[in-house]
Formats: sequence, structure tokens, C-alpha cells
Amino acid sequence: MLEKIIRLEHTHRILFTREVFAPRNNTIRDLLRLEQPHKIPRVLVFVDEAVASANRDLIDDIMAYGQVHAETFTMADDPIVIPGGEPCKNDFRLVECCWDAINEAALDRHSYVFVIGGGASLDLVCFAASTAHRGIRHVRFPTTTLSQGDGGVGVKNGVNYFGKKNWVGSFSVPFAVVNDFVFLESLPTRERRNGIIEAIKVALIRDRAFFEQVEGMADDLASLKQEALEKVVQRSAELHVEHIATGGDPFELGSARPLDFGHWAAHKLEQISKFSVPHGEAVAIGMAVDLVYSRMQGILDAETCERVLRLIERIGFATYSPHLMDTGRTGEPAILEGLEEFREHLGGELTVTLVPKIGEKIEVHEMNRVKILNALVDLKQRQAEA
Ligand SMILES: NC(=O)c1ccc[n+]([C@@H]2O[C@H](COP(=O)([O-])OP(=O)(O)OC[C@H]3O[C@@H](n4cnc5c(N)ncnc54)[C@H](O)[C@@H]3O)[C@@H](O)[C@H]2O)c1
Ligand SMILES: [Zn+2]
Repeated sequence: MLEKIIRLEHTHRILFTREVFAPRNNTIRDLLRLEQPHKIPRVLVFVDEAVASANRDLIDDIMAYGQVHAETFTMADDPIVIPGGEPCKNDFRLVECCWDAINEAALDRHSYVFVIGGGASLDLVCFAASTAHRGIRHVRFPTTTLSQGDGGVGVKNGVNYFGKKNWVGSFSVPFAVVNDFVFLESLPTRERRNGIIEAIKVALIRDRAFFEQVEGMADDLASLKQEALEKVVQRSAELHVEHIATGGDPFELGSARPLDFGHWAAHKLEQISKFSVPHGEAVAIGMAVDLVYSRMQGILDAETCERVLRLIERIGFATYSPHLMDTGRTGEPAILEGLEEFREHLGGELTVTLVPKIGEKIEVHEMNRVKILNALVDLKQRQAEA
């Protein structure tokens, strides 16, 4: 056997700014000078349709930015507007459209693809960019609270295939992620709130002080005040990135996924509700199920469980959905099928992260179905009493 070790080092850069395409904002200029400082690379920009229509000057601003900074980079073409939201990940022809555009613009391995949009459009375009020419440098500009604090700052991309979520995709560290908080201002209310739950999630598994900070800002977060949102999204992004960089498994070869706390039930709830319950709201309910389950199993004390549930509710999330009781194939609530599907998604052994104390996590490899059902009934009663 011939065995050689190939060592690869990746730099994961996350930048925070406002009005990134204002002519005086040097974030992009400085970024493009980091590598290949003596070249003038070509850049092709993709923009999520909803972001373009909510920010009417955006396309003109991007083109003007290209002109002002022509000594640093060349716009390979006019910005390309693409559909966003989950449906864009269900249509593989859109991947081919992105490849087409990259080919037409004659991008090469020294060029850059920029993508501005929600997590779904980032997943689509970054997949196309990371497979074109075996990988073109790409910069993500997430525009939702969820993607700025969680999905968009990761190292994965992909689209849905065979009717399965993210079935085709790759692990590919973006050249950079640029979080421009101004984009959050054009988000609809539900989308503005959604990202807060991932911040609470990552605080629960990693950072007690941050959890307490979120509690302190609960009223401002409930009313979706921009300043509070920015603080929470920024810290959430930092904690997610810290986990990816230092957690020991950035490309998810093992079965543990601490960042998926509350997600086994959340993914299933999204599916049962035919995606009428969006990801953030599903995660709030999924975490509530695991918190009450942990209390019933003696993993979490009742007082802490109540404290976390109350915070989730104060911020405006429900902790129960009638879809939790929808019956599945076996006559039991379909939500229970989520456990086996989560195991398949991880590959290998079922590994569910639970929270025994705020800021700490444990892993369990089985869950008691009767106790899960009891937790669902408990949450149903809680909602009825509220
Ligand atoms: N790659 C990863 O590691 C990772 C991790 C978590 C989630 N995700 C993926 O992210 C997706 C969810 O992303 P999301 O929560 O950002 O939602 P999204 O991309 O579905 O966006 C929600 C809606 O808001 C619109 N929108 C986005 N930004 C806007 C803005 N600033 N103003 C107005 N409208 C705007 C979008 O067009 C879309 O219609 C899912 O497909 C999920 O699988 C990926
Ligand atoms: Zn999530």
C-alpha cells in the first residue's frame, strides 16, 4: 500500500458590514486583493429575485461598484437574477442555468462567483460554482437572519434531488461570507424572526452568557428591532463558525451534529406540514420537544426547561403545532418517523444532541418513543392553557 497524507488548510472568512455595494465601502475591494493581488479577476454576480425586487437600486449599485473599483476586478457580465426560496433547489435546470452563465462569462479558476440571497439561492449557486471547473472561488452574501446567522456561514451547498433535501451537493469552504445587515431590513416579518431561533439553539449548546444576553434582549427581539437582531445574528454566526472550525468534523464524516439540536423533529415537521411551517418555526417546536423530553428523562431540570420554553415563546415562536399529532404510516404520530430519517441523514448510528444545562450538550443514541409522545401531549396542553 502506498499512503501519503495530503494536508489542506482552509480559511473561513466572515465579514460584517452595511451597504456593501456603496462606492465608499471597501469590503469587497480589500477581499479581492487578499489572494492574487496583482491580478484583476473576473466576477460574476447572481442575485436572488426577491432580494432584487425588495432592493430596487441593488443591480445598479452593483454595476456602479464594479466601475468604481475597476482597478481591482472586472464584472464578467451584468448581475444575473435567479429565483430564490426552497423551490429554486427543486429544479435542477437552474443548476444548469448557473453553469451556462459561468461558461458564457468565461469564468476560470481564478475568477469569483458572488451570490446575494437567502440560504436556498446560496445553496444553489454555490453548488454550481463549486462544481464548475472543479470549483470556482465563491463569495456568499446571505440576506436572511437565518442564513446570516446559520445556513449561509457554513461550508456546505447543494440542491434537492430524488425528492430528497440536499441530496446532491458538496462541502466547499467559500472564499468569504459577507453579512450585510442592511439586507435584513427588507425581510418579511416571519423571515426576520426565524434566525433568532438558531441563535438560541447555538447559545443553548455552546454559550450560556449569550443565552442570558438573548434573554435580556427578548422584548427588543420580539418586536424585531434591527439593532437587537444584528447583535444576535452576529454572535450566532460567530458561534456557528467557531463550531465548524474547531468542532473536529467540518465535513461531517462522523454522526454527531450538535448544530442540529432540535432538528430531527423540525425536519420532519417541515415535511409533514408540507413546508407551511418554515424552518425557523419548526426548529422552535423541535427544540421544545427535545427540552420537554429531556425534562421527562431527568436530563434537564424542570426550572431550566421552563426558562428556555418561556424565552422561545416570548420571542414570538410557538412551541406546539397540531401537525405534531398528524398520523403516519403506522398509526402513530408521523413525527416519530423523523428519528429514523434523521439517522439515515447522519448515516450510521442515531446521534441526537440534548441539552442538560444551558451552554452544555450531550449525545444520546436512542430516544424513548413513549416519552416523546408524552412530551408532545405536554406541549399540546401547554398551548391549550396559554
Ligand atoms: N448550506 C447549509 O449549510 C445550510 C444550512 C442551513 C440551511 N440551509 C438551507 O437554507 C435554506 C433556507 O434559507 P433561508 O432561511 O435563508 O430562506 P430562503 O432562502 O428560502 O429565503 C426565504 C424567502 O425570502 C426571500 N428573501 C431572501 N432574502 C430577502 C430579503 N433580504 N428581502 C426580501 N426577501 C428576501 C427569498 O427569496 C425566499 O423567498 C434551506 O434550503 C436550507 O436547506 C443550508
Ligand atoms: Zn436549522
